Amino acid sequence: MRATVSLLLLPFVFLLAGCADLMSPDTGKRGPIAPILTSEEAFDDQTFAKPIEARVTHLDLDLAVDFDAKTIGGTAVLDVLAADEAQEIILDSNGLRVSAVTDEAGNALPFALGDTVEGKGEPLTIGLPAQKLERDGNLGEGELAPTHRIVIEYLSAPEAEALQWLSPQQTAGGEYPFLFSQGQAINNRTWIPTQDSPGIRQTWEATISAPEPLNVVMSGVVQGDPQAEDVVEEGAEDGQRREFSFVMNNAVPPYLIAIAAGNIEFRELGPRSGVWAEPEVIEAAAQEVGDTEEMIDAGIALFGDYRWGRYDMIVLPPAFPYGGMENPVMTFLTPTFIAGDRSNNGLVAHELAHSWSGNLTTYSSWRDGWLNEGVTSYFENRIVEEVYGEERAEQEYALSYAGLVEGIENTGADNPATAMRTPDDISPFATRGFAIYDKGTVFLRTVENIIGREPFDAWLTQWFDTYAFQPVTSEMFLNDLREKLIKGDAALEEQLMLDEWVYGTGLPENAWKPDPEAFAQVDGAVSAYASAGTLPDGDVWRGWTAAEQRRFLEELPEELSEEQLAALDTTLGLSQSANNEVLFLWLEAALRNEYDPAVPQAERFLARVGRNKFVSPLFTALNNTAWGKPIAQRIYAQTRSGYHAYTRSNVDATLQYEEPA
Ligand code: BES
Ligand code: ZN
Repeated sequence: MRATVSLLLLPFVFLLAGCADLMSPDTGKRGPIAPILTSEEAFDDQTFAKPIEARVTHLDLDLAVDFDAKTIGGTAVLDVLAADEAQEIILDSNGLRVSAVTDEAGNALPFALGDTVEGKGEPLTIGLPAQKLERDGNLGEGELAPTHRIVIEYLSAPEAEALQWLSPQQTAGGEYPFLFSQGQAINNRTWIPTQDSPGIRQTWEATISAPEPLNVVMSGVVQGDPQAEDVVEEGAEDGQRREFSFVMNNAVPPYLIAIAAGNIEFRELGPRSGVWAEPEVIEAAAQEVGDTEEMIDAGIALFGDYRWGRYDMIVLPPAFPYGGMENPVMTFLTPTFIAGDRSNNGLVAHELAHSWSGNLTTYSSWRDGWLNEGVTSYFENRIVEEVYGEERAEQEYALSYAGLVEGIENTGADNPATAMRTPDDISPFATRGFAIYDKGTVFLRTVENIIGREPFDAWLTQWFDTYAFQPVTSEMFLNDLREKLIKGDAALEEQLMLDEWVYGTGLPENAWKPDPEAFAQVDGAVSAYASAGTLPDGDVWRGWTAAEQRRFLEELPEELSEEQLAALDTTLGLSQSANNEVLFLWLEAALRNEYDPAVPQAERFLARVGRNKFVSPLFTALNNTAWGKPIAQRIYAQTRSGYHAYTRSNVDATLQYEEPA
């Protein structure tokens, strides 16, 4: 009898074991309350919060996703650490509809939404409960503990900027709606009532309900089997609903809380990693990110432990406005990076690298963008070198360097928007992308080469370790570097030019130049084309790496005739490229030169791609000529509604688009 039972149970046990692989192990118990920085440079002028008086330390969300109303709503329970004399806490809101605020026992607490400030939203001020939380007896001396707990009942607005609600037509399957969020920079205050500032780290947990058969993923560790048939509400208005629970035990900046829901399935890649996507996309997605485990190993070998447990990704529908977003344990990716040959996987390396730079150590102020993005771009290149080899890494570095030089040329070497640390007298978001990403990469490459790779790597590893799960500033980065690597060596200090790099504009003269050999062959072809009009042979072109093809297209003369464009497309097959980076560069060159045959191609591209990096420049190219202006208006009228608020705001500005009243 006994044997029979266990035999019968056997498949069940295997099933459970199979699920256990899918089930992400919890990363342990809740981490400590993170410190906040109080220095002037750490100050975030984009939040209403006064974290020294009272700050949020933990968030517990219980929310329902409503696709018909385009809202997310329910309750948020906030743990607060307040100073003794504090009477209230100020949160960030942007259009939240708050219906009630209470203490744990349900007693009403006073609350008020203040006046809206353009771009920032409005402060949500809440009177703290008279009753304080009891201090956990197990806590050690000096260990921080929350002092209050408040319960907020609320609903997001349908136009919440963090959330994009896609119709079934905007998905690959065409059958179910889709939702994704984008928190960075200050969008999460449109769906989560908390202190939305990168220096105020919070642990969080969430239970989310969504209509069947949609799956929900978040930037936290899923509890239980993510694909279980766990119906919580039979016969609800929109059919049966299921609940999904997530936990993030590491204190994170709140812009890293993210959600996506859709008809998505999971594909395991290795012991720590997997990818989610719609069934129509999952195969291509899993193929493309097939080097992920190797990349994680490379990241660990370079700069220390991966501290988040699993690393999963989701490939979103094409409306996603960015290439990728480093949401912890669940990177969000555009499908437009899929080329079939992993040639755009610098993106995956980049978002993975944020698991150290950005997510372990996080800027406290938006003015220190390079600390997240520049350090990550450098790290990305180091992973690419490990996984794809030195040649490809050097080519990608050369592209980055050329982008920096061109960016500075166009912006002006004395323009404050070219300083890595955004100066106090301009908007914290005014710094140009190349000054954050490419200048940051070149800076660290320069330091690496002056100091030597081995000591520099050891220093960067301890930097991530020392400040893990903490906010940081440019000052802290430079101080730590000086204290541990320079150690008063005046000659070395002078050679590095650290302050000029971080606070100065333009390109410092010690910048580490890419190896001219990296693109020797392509640059030869560029010169041959410029001087004699000779195009590379089609077979030669097809043998080039994606980086080589991009280099050639980026170095083309600004002005090209109709005959030249026709020859380029015929010989090189540009409009047929499977690589969207290459296709984009072709379309940009064609449109800025008023090339009629490219218009239908551009129209298809702009209808299928929502990534701002591609969409905005193409509309700009069209808008720059009298020929293109009406074309831009015509195409945009068709495609605008499919774009994310971020992409839309950029193109609206370019085209001076006025929403019909
Ligand atoms: N964190 C950024 C995206 C971001 C930055 C969103 C600032 C909002 C505000 C992400 O890691 C990123 O840099 N994405 C790039 C990837 C590229 C550099 C490989 C992108 O989307 O193009
Ligand atoms: Zn990034």
